[in-house]
Amino acid sequence: MLLSLVLAIPAVGRSADAGSGPASNAPPSASSGDVARGRYLTHSVAMCIQCHTPRNADGTLDETRLFQGAAIPVESPFKGQEWAAQAPDIAGLGSFDEEDEMSVLTKGHRRDGHAPKPPMPPFRMSEEDARAVLAYLRSLAR
Ligand code: HEC
Repeated sequence: MLLSLVLAIPAVGRSADAGSGPASNAPPSASSGDVARGRYLTHSVAMCIQCHTPRNADGTLDETRLFQGAAIPVESPFKGQEWAAQAPDIAGLGSFDEEDEMSVLTKGHRRDGHAPKPPMPPFRMSEEDARAVLAYLRSLAR
């Protein structure tokens, strides 16, 4: 009993932190994921930011346009492989369907089986991580 109380305290602190970053104006969502964790996963682990954020003339990421879509300036190394020339604008998620994108991040394809073309990787995230990623992307709505 005492132990569970002690364990609960840092958890409360962590969720409070999630609202204090750059995404603090994000509206709470019904299927709320952890926005701070989503930022960490997309910026520092799965590196979504490297393909989905436009670049400045010197090749650095344009931090003022996070996840607003970018050209993929290389071709597939495999002749004849389907390949996307553009990573879409996913800041705010726009018209992307929440549950289809949950499926994309956890199974690698939308609910109807449609899979994004390479070089978008076929992710197999946990539900919790995928919710966090989508919560973060929603927080970038403009
Ligand atoms: C190596 C480059 C690359 C990386 C890394 C990458 N993406 Fe993508 N992503 C793409 C491209 C290219 C497309 C467009 C695919 C197409 O047009 O079929 C795409 C498509 C998408 C879509 C739209 C899927 C749909 O239903 O059509 C979402 C959402 C998305 N990416 C999210 C992410 C997230 C979140 C991450 C990190 C966890 C990520 N991407 C990492 C290149 C990338």
